[in-house]
Amino acid sequence: MPTKARAAVLWGTDEPWKVQEIDVDDPKEGEVLVRWKAAGLCHSDEHLVTGDMVPNAETLTAMGLDSFFPIIGGHEGAGVIEAVGPGVRSVAVGDHVSASFVPSCGHCRYCTTGRGNLCDAGAGTLGGGMITDGTHRHHIDGKPVTLLAKLGTFAELTCVSEMSVIKVDDDLPMDAVSLVSCGVATGWGSATRRADVQVGDTVVVVGIGGIGMNAVQGAKMAGASRVIAVDPLEFKREKAMEFGATHTFASMEEALPEVTEMTRGQMADKVIMTPGVMYGELMEMAQTLTGKGGTMVVTAVAPIEQKDSSINLFNLAMYNKEVKGTIFGSLTPRNDIPRLLEMYRGGSLKLDELITERYPLDGINEGYQAMRDGTNIRGVIVYE
Ligand SMILES: NC(=O)c1ccc[n+]([C@@H]2O[C@H](COP(=O)([O-])OP(=O)(O)OC[C@H]3O[C@@H](n4cnc5c(N)ncnc54)[C@H](O)[C@@H]3O)[C@@H](O)[C@H]2O)c1
Ligand SMILES: [Zn+2]
Ligand SMILES: [Zn+2]
Repeated sequence: MPTKARAAVLWGTDEPWKVQEIDVDDPKEGEVLVRWKAAGLCHSDEHLVTGDMVPNAETLTAMGLDSFFPIIGGHEGAGVIEAVGPGVRSVAVGDHVSASFVPSCGHCRYCTTGRGNLCDAGAGTLGGGMITDGTHRHHIDGKPVTLLAKLGTFAELTCVSEMSVIKVDDDLPMDAVSLVSCGVATGWGSATRRADVQVGDTVVVVGIGGIGMNAVQGAKMAGASRVIAVDPLEFKREKAMEFGATHTFASMEEALPEVTEMTRGQMADKVIMTPGVMYGELMEMAQTLTGKGGTMVVTAVAPIEQKDSSINLFNLAMYNKEVKGTIFGSLTPRNDIPRLLEMYRGGSLKLDELITERYPLDGINEGYQAMRDGTNIRGVIVYE
């Protein structure tokens, strides 16, 4: 019997999230029902609203889809297992879990070589039905509705693959767990894993939202001697100082002469790009801020069809620089989500301080307006 639940559904680009009732089917083989307790408002869901992350008609056809909408949003989340389908081994009813927007099959080439963020089961993340068999478990008036990243944490209850959830300790606060499931892991990993920040490095982080703030705290934990936070908003720059930044600037242009001066012209070892939207033209300044042999990490999501980027390839080669992309901060969910939560428990990782505002599900559009206005580090939906 399907269970009724309330969910924030997007019916098209440039529309508000609509909170409405959905039907959720029972879990099948390898699936679980999760009652979500908290869901973070990440910028990636906003990319659905703006259309930046919506595939064009040609790509949709290649994916075997007629339409991208309606879709239930949300991929940052923490919840409790309400029911399990046949064959589920990694979690049981009552377990507390973190969402993981990249699944972990445990068997593929990537899962077995410490690159869990690249698990092959993530291939259909942007569309279609369940990871398990491609069919749908969520319906509105009998019509199928998809889940963002196969999770849909902007719903009271969803049915997901057991590959998409990770058991966590029961005593951890759900809102803190939800943030680790995407923003914290992605930002922290962008600095510590993908940029591979070393003791004494000079690190520039561009864009201080839920992701960039965690790149700042990751760079600090990795021992960077200078962590330079760049954001046009004063509120973000002030907060960045509390998370470990040593200097802040309103723009990359403003940072350039100062970084030149403080590094005696050597420039940054690592530049991490975490603005709300990644535009190709931002790479010119990112490259200028990067020193010889330095690394640029692109974490932010660019408009899906954008191909141009202002990288000077002559300088890239002659100064031996590198540009790296990253999904999930290049971490492995099953290892790193519990590990980050242990750091939180031990007091070395700040999570509570990331939450600016909590909202009921009905406050979702207010929460995203706050993101556009730049007044939240992270907003979190908390369910009853
Ligand atoms: N690669 C991944 O796996 C992954 C995972 C999660 C999120 N993301 C992406 O990371 C990006 C950041 O997400 P978020 O949730 O932190 O967003 P956010 O909206 O909370 O924060 C973005 C910040 O960037 C600042 N900004 C915008 N343009 C800037 C510029 N030109 N220079 C300096 N600062 C600028 C804004 O003022 C804001 O403070 C988004 O594109 C999101 O989709 C990527
Ligand atoms: Zn996210
Ligand atoms: Zn895998």
